[in-house]
Amino acid sequence: MNNLNHLAIIMDGNGRWAKNQGLLRSFGHKAGAKTIEKLAKVCIEENIKSLSLFAFSTENWKRPKEEVDFIFKLLKEYLSSELNNFIENQIKFVSFGDISVLDEVTKELILEFEEKTKNNSRLVFNLGINYGGKDELIRAFKKLNNSNEEINEENLTKHLDIKEDVDLLIRTGGHFRISNFLLWQCAYAEFVFTPTLFPDFSDTELRKIINDFRICKRNFGGV
Ligand code: IPE
Ligand code: IPE
Ligand code: MG
Repeated sequence: MNNLNHLAIIMDGNGRWAKNQGLLRSFGHKAGAKTIEKLAKVCIEENIKSLSLFAFSTENWKRPKEEVDFIFKLLKEYLSSELNNFIENQIKFVSFGDISVLDEVTKELILEFEEKTKNNSRLVFNLGINYGGKDELIRAFKKLNNSNEEINEENLTKHLDIKEDVDLLIRTGGHFRISNFLLWQCAYAEFVFTPTLFPDFSDTELRKIINDFRICKRNFGGV
């Protein structure tokens, strides 16, 4: 049985989910945010150590301003309403990506949420906000360069936002691409692409994917 320490999910398909029902894309993002809680519960029950979710990419700024504004409004609402849930379930919140460009209120909310949940130990919940795999690598290389340490995998990893390799990467929404998510950490991840749009992604489907992962044969270059 494979150990599942780190699960990553590209939460895609919110916009199409809304469109299918004749709703504005923003309703899809709202529905997607509701899906997250039950997935975190599955991770706790399955003894997964870290869950990394892709919420907003360095490329998502290309979207219409109204949609970007809505996503960040939703993030602020999420952070304002979920604290009890994170504390009750012993979930540690960590953001990854470059949040330096965000407005002060949003940044403050993120840092406060991290601070208040930092000692929780049942699940590490990483949320990618203005995250891009290439951007993360460039930031890490710059830090490594300034540190004068030897350039090797271990030293580069120390400067990454996310330091653990991904065991299983799931992308909802039917596209077969990585869209600049956790490029370094997915070097040996198992990939699962499901056509399910993120708001419809259920705990049952997640459990099935996890069970299949546990029995798949991982080689890591060996035989
Ligand atoms: C993913 O859903 C959420 C974000 C990128 C914020 P999309 O908004 O990309 O939904 P689709 O892919 O257009 O359906
Ligand atoms: C990936 O979804 C980013 C997030 C889920 C946050 P996108 O919808 O932005 O990906 P592309 O542009 O279709 O590749
Ligand atoms: Mg999309």
